[in-house]
Amino acid sequence: MLENGPLAVRAAITIDGQPAGFRLTLCRCGASGNKPLCDSSHASTGFVASGEAATVASEALAQRDGPLDIHPIPNGPLRVKGNLEVISGTGRTIARMTEAWFCRCGQSGNKPFCDGTHKKVGFRSEPQDP
Ligand code: FES
Repeated sequence: MLENGPLAVRAAITIDGQPAGFRLTLCRCGASGNKPLCDSSHASTGFVASGEAATVASEALAQRDGPLDIHPIPNGPLRVKGNLEVISGTGRTIARMTEAWFCRCGQSGNKPFCDGTHKKVGFRSEPQDP
């Protein structure tokens, strides 16, 4: 979880079941023109979001290092399934889980997780039809 920037993912990754390599940066500001990937729009839009978050009590995973499947919910969060450790920008483990919904609209009050705010702000993950 990068300060004022994307989610950096390292694992064996699939996006909607399709192989997507081992390292990705995922947009969490809502402005990328290449969602779900980061295109550095967070820098030009002045996105502000801490790379830190409160630690959530969690047990050690039975298996580490993925694999992870990422499913971008249309006009909503990123649903991630797999062996997942959420790490702050300073290297602190925030949470360990096997399923999570990550905010990608940039507006959640509980970053990096979705809190439903995307509905209130009318987040659109795809360009609007003219
Ligand atoms: S995607 Fe941002 S609050 Fe749900």
